[in-house]
Amino acid sequence: MDRHVDTTVPLAIGEVIRRTGVPASALHFYERKGLIFSSRDGCNQRIYARHMLRRISLIIVAKRLGVPLSDLAAVFAGLPRDHAPTHEDWQRMSRAWKRQLQARRQILEDLEHELTGCIGCGCLSMKACALLNPDDTLGEAGPGPVRLQHPTRRSSAAGTPYDSLSPERSPGKSF
Ligand code: FES
Repeated sequence: MDRHVDTTVPLAIGEVIRRTGVPASALHFYERKGLIFSSRDGCNQRIYARHMLRRISLIIVAKRLGVPLSDLAAVFAGLPRDHAPTHEDWQRMSRAWKRQLQARRQILEDLEHELTGCIGCGCLSMKACALLNPDDTLGEAGPGPVRLQHPTRRSSAAGTPYDSLSPERSPGKSF
């Protein structure tokens, strides 16, 4: 079947919902957040440029990966609003997002690595805590799992032999 799609024809909101599986309420929310944009047709109904489908698809994936929408909004900020992004536009966005995704991957790897060790939360319940967080000195570095959230404070706050317990990683490594 020879089917020609005119990519310049905007999509009615119902079509966007059908293609993306995203409900109208979520589309309105993404619009308020500046992630997608719509205009109005002659009947004052929302219509979306076809290239918004790609943005919405990326939002779906980002949400699944736990990427904050504010991060995505920053990445999307470099994309044109009034016409479909070019290949170069997507490449530029891709490079910016890649850096963020690498940072998130590093956090996940660190979490996986530290899950059975001291994360600096102040519980002092692990054997490693006595070495990595003696007398809960990391409590002075801020709330939460300090060794996961603030890798640069890991060793400086506690003055501990970080490398001796994690030989394959370095204290200067940042997320
Ligand atoms: S795991 Fe909580 S302070 Fe070490």
